[in-house]
Amino acid sequence: MVQNDLFQEMLEAISRVYEAEADPQGPHTAKTLMVTPSPVSFDPVRPCCLAEGIRTVLAGSEHPAARAALKAHNLLPWGSNPVERSTEKSIAAMISVATLLGPEGPIPAPDVRLGLVYMRPESYYPLHIHDADETYVIIAGQALWTAGDDTRMRGEGDMIHHPSLMPHAFCTGSEGFLAIWRWSGDINTHSYAFIEGQATQLQA
Ligand SMILES: [Fe+2]
Repeated sequence: MVQNDLFQEMLEAISRVYEAEADPQGPHTAKTLMVTPSPVSFDPVRPCCLAEGIRTVLAGSEHPAARAALKAHNLLPWGSNPVERSTEKSIAAMISVATLLGPEGPIPAPDVRLGLVYMRPESYYPLHIHDADETYVIIAGQALWTAGDDTRMRGEGDMIHHPSLMPHAFCTGSEGFLAIWRWSGDINTHSYAFIEGQATQLQA
């Protein structure tokens, strides 16, 4: 059981990210986070997965959720990636996910999945698709980001939308990135798929 002011402060910081979002799921997500009863229960967390480099970037990030996430990172359920079974080990190892909201918990939410995603430095996560609408908000670090036909550097404070079935991929440099990640709409995990033949290495 987690009953910790730092965890609650992080949930509140994340909820504020979504309060002003135009997407109808935004205020819904914010409300779900804000009404979360304390304590939250999840399995004991694994040892900290954030490399020193991204922790340094987090400490210097201006994003309101960055400091809160840094303070709470040792309390989070890292290793709870809902689509880990759909990925090869080598790809799954590039990313650590701490799921906070979802049908399987730890915070019950039948129609949204939300958590933190850490992508390691010097990594390429290939093009993939899924039925869910997806929103990333980068709170520290950066990546060369492909969303459909749009490939460019994305960094701290950027909110990136992937409509249902839009191919997307990420390529990190020396820092990696930490982002808030959310699925809404049809949040099934079975549609998660990599796009064969298009997973060419991007040059950062
Ligand atoms: Fe995605």
